[in-house]
Amino acid sequence: MATTLIKGGLVVSATGSVLADVLIDGETIAAVLAPGSTALGGDLAATADTVIDATGKYVIPGGIDAHTHMSLPFGGTSASDTPETGTRAAAWGGTTTIVDFAVQSAGGDVLEGLAKWHGMFDGECAIDYGFHQIIGGVDEQALAVMPRLIDEGITSFKLFMAYPGVFYATDDQILRAMQVAADTGLLTMMHAENGPVIDVLAAQLVEQGRTDPYFHGIARAWQMEEEATHRAIMLGNLTGAPLYVVHVSAKQAVAQLAAARDNGQNVFGETCPQYLYLSLEEHLGADSAEWGRFEGAKWVCSTPLRSRAEGHQDVLWQSLRTNDIQMVSTDHCPFCMKEQKELGLGDFRRIPNGIGSVEHRMDLMYQGVVQGEITLERWVELTSTTPARMFGLYGRKGVIQPGADGDVVVYDPKGHTSIGVGKTHHMNMDHSAWEGFEIDGHVDTVISRGRVIVDGGEYLGRKGDGRFVKRELSQYLV
Ligand code: URP
Ligand code: ZN
Ligand code: ZN
Repeated sequence: MATTLIKGGLVVSATGSVLADVLIDGETIAAVLAPGSTALGGDLAATADTVIDATGKYVIPGGIDAHTHMSLPFGGTSASDTPETGTRAAAWGGTTTIVDFAVQSAGGDVLEGLAKWHGMFDGECAIDYGFHQIIGGVDEQALAVMPRLIDEGITSFKLFMAYPGVFYATDDQILRAMQVAADTGLLTMMHAENGPVIDVLAAQLVEQGRTDPYFHGIARAWQMEEEATHRAIMLGNLTGAPLYVVHVSAKQAVAQLAAARDNGQNVFGETCPQYLYLSLEEHLGADSAEWGRFEGAKWVCSTPLRSRAEGHQDVLWQSLRTNDIQMVSTDHCPFCMKEQKELGLGDFRRIPNGIGSVEHRMDLMYQGVVQGEITLERWVELTSTTPARMFGLYGRKGVIQPGADGDVVVYDPKGHTSIGVGKTHHMNMDHSAWEGFEIDGHVDTVISRGRVIVDGGEYLGRKGDGRFVKRELSQYLV
């Protein structure tokens, strides 16, 4: 088995940082040693097959992005990154595992939906991947089959309080699915927005001629995120099912989660870089020479970007420090402007929802360290360790320790990353939602199960090397 020694770096974990050498043997971390240690019987730097000098750099567990949608069919088109292009872009950015969403549509068979996603991903990916299951139609058959997902390594499922006519679940359906979750240990992930009310508001805006992307953000009012979050929490309380609320953007939804946690309830929240950095005013309301007031379509996603004047972004950063929000994923769901986002010219309701960020999450969250929003250790916790614990991957992923998969990133805090098309852009999109962002750090080397897949600006990964990972139950169940 080939060995790799990463020497002299600062090994950063969720609990602390220490100067150490990391030895990977084959696909697995074999040892974490004092720098230059000969405890294994000799000079490792002289005997290892590959030696990576990480002096002055951070050595972190590979990023885990627990919320992506490669090739997701949505709004009459499909997300523009395939499993192949999306996982390659993820690798470039220091993410070594994604958890994507297999889809069961209303009236469809859950296990057939899962099999279809296996077919799409198998042999395509550059990095390891798992699946959550979208239950887009909670019916008797779906409820009966859900417990079998656990044997398939799918230990979480997503329900939608939004998107009537697409994935939408009614309260009684949510109750039934949560009862199954409480009985089995499946983790309920919730898209918490009141879809029926939002659809009425959106129709009224369009009737008034307010058709620009900006009104996507107005229709999807924070009150309807707060309300749905509260309702989901109450249904979780009633059933005893733990709850994980995805893509939280409104400060009022954060307050609902914080109050429920203070009350002892097992609820969790995830936010995304777009809700921390971008805003309704600056981005959804953007206006360019090329696209006019349709420019904002680049940032149409649900939940929507929120007003900076109302202070949502500051509260979200704070919630990452106080642990009221526990994770940062991307909700990577990219669409090109040409032929995709432009489906919504003249009617914001037809703009496919989603932003592409899988490549930039580790960098964007590192910038939070640079700006003093979070600590170095919290960076690792939010982007790797908690995702692993939340979604049953911990031990293999999310930590640098003997026995774990050799998924390791060498990050250079003295490096620099200029984000943008033609600079660092490997996602399959004709624009970047992050154009012009400057990061005071750089992903130098990415190792996936012992193989160097990115090194010094060179991509060395291979389609098909990424494997499906069966997940255990969440470590956060009680
Ligand atoms: O805008 C978004 N979030 N698109 C992806 C689908 C979802 O709701 O996660
Ligand atoms: Zn969603
Ligand atoms: Zn999503």
